Order: sequence, then structure tokens, then C-alpha cells
Amino acid sequence: MLVTNARLAGRDGLHDIEIDGDRFGRVAPAGELAGDVLADAAGGLVSPPFVEPHVHLDTTLTAGEPRWNASGSLWEGIAVWSERKTALTRDDVVSRATEVLRWYAANGVLHVRSHVDVTDPELVALDAMVEVRERVKDVIGLQLVAFPQEGICSFENGPELLEEAARRGADVIGAIPHFEDTREDGVRSLEIAFDIAQRYGLLLDAHCDEIDDEQSRFVEVLATLARRGGLRDRATASHTTAMGSYNGAYSYKLQRILARSGINLVCNPLANLCLQGRFDAYPKRRGLTQVKEMLAAGVNIAFGHDDVMDPWFPLGTASSLQVALVGVAAAQLTGAAEIDEAFAMVTDRAARVLGLGDGYGIAPGRPANLVVLPASSPYDAVRRQTRPSHVVARGRIVAETPPAVTRLTWPGRDPEDVDFVRARDRR
Ligand code: FE2
Repeated sequence: MLVTNARLAGRDGLHDIEIDGDRFGRVAPAGELAGDVLADAAGGLVSPPFVEPHVHLDTTLTAGEPRWNASGSLWEGIAVWSERKTALTRDDVVSRATEVLRWYAANGVLHVRSHVDVTDPELVALDAMVEVRERVKDVIGLQLVAFPQEGICSFENGPELLEEAARRGADVIGAIPHFEDTREDGVRSLEIAFDIAQRYGLLLDAHCDEIDDEQSRFVEVLATLARRGGLRDRATASHTTAMGSYNGAYSYKLQRILARSGINLVCNPLANLCLQGRFDAYPKRRGLTQVKEMLAAGVNIAFGHDDVMDPWFPLGTASSLQVALVGVAAAQLTGAAEIDEAFAMVTDRAARVLGLGDGYGIAPGRPANLVVLPASSPYDAVRRQTRPSHVVARGRIVAETPPAVTRLTWPGRDPEDVDFVRARDRR
């Protein structure tokens, strides 16, 4: 089978892509390969699928249950979730998570890392999500993070629950050091998380410094543990919003520590633009990772959605392009190359966070996963928010979106279609 007339990043002209079963075959200039056409990209951008590096699927679609987060703060969100959690059942988690994974697939997001709250003596959500991971594996590769929402040291049996989650099938060990009761508990919680990750051969991804407190500096601890213990790029610090409050001298020191450690960062612009700065009068802080500076320092960063309709963020359609667009505005990535970089932060860079390696990318022998975007470039796809015309998972088309057409009737002109492309960019 072939995906024909594809525009590929880094290659001139159009290409055809061979798909042999569930794997990619050769890639050659358009017209050189023989085979049946699976999808005609018609000159559109063909990309490896979008990758969601950070979402909470156990809390998704619960916005307003049992009440809305009135203050909009992270802390009230945790309190609302703590109330909702008492009503959690396996079926409840499976149906909400599955619905949002369907949205992800429709948007061309075929790899997802989901945090799952394990501060629950029964681990109801984790068991349910392990089941979901198995059910969706032919379409979406799902990684599960054992996420101690209410702390490791500050929650009863926190360390035991985290290790039990590792035994029950978590792929990644989480932590939340800034939420622990003391600075010392925060450091200890990271040591416990690293110890479990290393003993079970798992990755690590901690919610780290998600607070507007310039004294919250656990990312330096996480990076140092990752470097000294050898986990390096298998470790990730998510959120790191306190970076939006660090002074210049400390930021400079931190760039060196993070770059040397090889860890990844995940910035979640949709949720954190809303959650942070809630205790500020004006000037009100943005409360985000130092994206531009850390990219320049050579640190791998991805953009994540974090929440789709839950106590922390009431909006969202599980679209990585929406995350990238907001990320451009939030992190001021407005140069043309920076907008392409924002696209990489929801594709290639996010794939590095998940450690996908040879399991990701359009190259012979790799899993045949791709999206066809009716766009001329990553920049164009981010700007016009083009939904994929085709989503191919494991060599099969799993989603198709006909092009949206808007017909405009304008004084003095015949009715015509508007596609929001400026004339000088039209091919
Ligand atoms: Fe999160």
C-alpha cells in the first residue's frame, strides 16, 4: 500500500511512502513506487503522529463534578478531585478515558502518556487504566505514570502505594515534591520515586515545581538524581512553572544543571496559563517553564495538554495542534523556525520524552503510524489548525476528516471558498 504525494519535512518535492503490513517500507519520489493507494496526501504535509507527553486520563471529562473549581487554582483543583475520587469506579474511569483516547486518535495523536492518581488505597484508576492500555494498543500506544497526586511522604502509605502501582503495571513512576509537607519530604519523595523506577526498570516523570514559588527548586534535585543514578533522558520534569519566577542568576545555573543531566521537560501551557498567577495581584505572573531559554540551552522540551475537561482545565478537545498554538503564544515562540519547533514539541520532541526511539518516525521498518495534514508546513498546520485528513495507525486508516469548506459571498464578487491561505503562499 502507498501514501502518495506526501510533503515530508526536510525533503524537497513530493514523495510516496510504502506501507507493508503494519510497518513502513521505502520512501521514494512520487510515482517511483508501485502499489495500491491507501491515502493520497495531495501535496499535504505528512508527519509522524502527534504525541501527547502529559495528560490525566483518570480525571478527564469530570469538569463540574461534584462542583466547579471556583478559584481556578491548582490547590482547589486537587481538593475538588479528592471529592470526586470517592465516587470512582472501574467503569467510570474506563469510559471517560476511552472517550478521550478516541478524540486523541481522531486528532492524529497515537502515543499518549497519562498520569494516573495512585493516592487511593484501592488503586481503582490504575487497574482500570491498565485495562484500557491493553484495549487500545492497536491504535494508541499508552504509557501510564503512577502519579501520587496527594504526595508520597505526606500521604498514608504513599511509598507502598507507589511501589504497588509499579507491580501492577505502571510504565513510569511519578512524584509531586512541591506538594509534600516540607522541603525535606519533597527531596525524600524524589529519592523514593527514583529508587522504585530503578529497581523496576521504569521511567520517571514527576510533577515538579508546579507553583508560583521561586523557592520551589526540586527540578535541580530531580536532574541531579537522574544524572548520578544514570536515568538521564528516561527522566522528565513536568510543569516546572516555578521557573517563571526564578531570578536570572539561578536560571543561568539551572540551565547548566538541566542540560548536563539530559532530562526532559514538559510544559503544559493550556492548564498552567489558567492555574498559575492566581494568588498574584498585578503584575500577574505567567507561571510557565522557561521554554525558549531551556531550548537554547539544549534541553529537550515538549508541550502537553495536561487536562481535558477536568477540575484543573475545563476546555480542550485532545488536539495537539491546539496545544502547540497556545504554546507559541504562551512561550513567545513567534519566529518562523520557532513555530516549526512548537510543532516538533508535540511530535518528535514529545516522542523523545516517551522514549519511543525506533518505534517512532517515517522510516523503513518502523511502525506505520502517520498523519496527513492539509497544510504546506508545520507552521501552516499550527496557524490554520488543520485537522488531519487521514490518520494511519499500524498501517490502517483509523480516522478521516473531509476538508472543511467555507463559502463566502462578498460584495462585488462571485461566491468563493475561503481557506485562510495568503495569496503569496499559495502553491
Ligand atoms: Fe499534570
